[in-house]
Amino acid sequence: MGFKKDFLWGGATAANQYEGGYDQDGKGLNAIDVLTNGAVDRPRLVTWKKEDGTTGDSPLVWGEEFNVPADATPAILPGHHYPSHHGTDFYHHFQEDIKLMAEMGFKAFRLSISWSRIFPNGDEKEPNEAGLKFYEQIFAECHKYNIEPMVTLSHYDTPLNLIEKYGGWSDRKLIDLFENYAITVFERYKGQVKYWTTFNEINAMDEAPYMGGGLTAPTPQERARGAHNQFVASAKAVKAAHRIDPEMQVGQMLAYAPVYAYTCDPADQVEVMKAQQDTLFYADVQVGGRYPEYRLKKYERQGIRLDDRPQDYELLAEYPADFLSFSCYSSAVITTHPNDDEASGNLGVAGVANPYLETNAWGWATDPDCLRLALNTLWDRYHKPLWVVENGIGWADKLEADNTVHDDYRIKYLRAAIRSMSDAVELDGVDLMGYTLWSAIDLVSNGTGEMKKRYGLVYVDCDDLGNGTMKRYKKDSFSWYQKVISSNGIDLQ
Ligand code: BG6
Repeated sequence: MGFKKDFLWGGATAANQYEGGYDQDGKGLNAIDVLTNGAVDRPRLVTWKKEDGTTGDSPLVWGEEFNVPADATPAILPGHHYPSHHGTDFYHHFQEDIKLMAEMGFKAFRLSISWSRIFPNGDEKEPNEAGLKFYEQIFAECHKYNIEPMVTLSHYDTPLNLIEKYGGWSDRKLIDLFENYAITVFERYKGQVKYWTTFNEINAMDEAPYMGGGLTAPTPQERARGAHNQFVASAKAVKAAHRIDPEMQVGQMLAYAPVYAYTCDPADQVEVMKAQQDTLFYADVQVGGRYPEYRLKKYERQGIRLDDRPQDYELLAEYPADFLSFSCYSSAVITTHPNDDEASGNLGVAGVANPYLETNAWGWATDPDCLRLALNTLWDRYHKPLWVVENGIGWADKLEADNTVHDDYRIKYLRAAIRSMSDAVELDGVDLMGYTLWSAIDLVSNGTGEMKKRYGLVYVDCDDLGNGTMKRYKKDSFSWYQKVISSNGIDLQ
């Protein structure tokens, strides 16, 4: 009954939002290192320069056109603030942080490796030993406490040099470079890391192609090519991992949000179906092993031509992902009827507000119950083990004078989310491997680049501009989650 005995409870993070140390020990720049901070009403900017010295910036607004001028290169400019440069300084706090995770009882810790720490330009022949050592120390620290590391190979951080030289993931060249990076870390961390995923929220290629694929002028064709290249790269990673260490499992990581129709008008249901296809296409290929007809038809209508090879399709069919991991924060609502009550959500979820749900200060609806729906949809369609690798609620937490943080709103959300997951397991028989909530510890928000939008169970003293002591303080949710884990999800009070 209930969650498996070896259920992987834990928390998640991402290098570019957490590590800081953006230029230390030989690390090269990546896509996010040139992305400024923003706010709920102010977009993040990709800053750039041209050869003649002209500088400028391009706002990154989800769902809107994004363009860095063709003759410009993304670059760090004076007078801007870049939150990835400090994160919450995991680079210098990893021992302390992993100890805190162990105290909560974590069985798993999801983190990402920054590709440009290992290959600063993404295309060197030899890796950067200091970068490899950094993660080795982290994995050793995890194993000291019997915490299983779960590693994402690319969490929104394509090396900047690959963006400059090749235009990001729309170029097939990145497949080989990624394969080489994957083989390097698989060989080095054999026996130390069992669970891997390739691309964080791989469907970001559609919704946030600069983050997902380093695309600076993303046309529909560039996005389609970028996605194809990441599918092939993922299949190659699965193949390499199984060869290097048969114990390794390489999963997909999908951003998933159940979509509801606003009305019972059949036209609304068709829109829901189309929205679901846009997301599930990514799992149909990476987990199911083949391109679905609805997507091929769409490409045909749009006149999109992939830069593919016949052997790509053999790889996709032969080396699908071993498991399906996904982020799920909320649901979306769609309608064909006039409704200007716009909603907001992860990756700029389109659609309208749900009158049955509350929202946080960033306009994200709180719908913890959507996890049961998500788990059932994905289990029924793929019958591959699932892992909720991101779920949580962003809030402007307040550190009290006595260094406590009373985040009852977070406990309430997580309690409902875990109940919903438990229903999917107990009542519906879904095969669920683990739950790594977002985020283990406070870190920079991906969408807005703020520190103010916090998700962690541990508070970090750092403000939007990186000021603060970086000291860690346990929130109320810390001891609550400790009880949840020690009771294997039974004690949610
Ligand atoms: C997911 C990402 O999109 O959602 C994370 O994988 C991100 O990187 C998380 O931080 C929450 O989004 P945000 O924009 O609130 O930080």
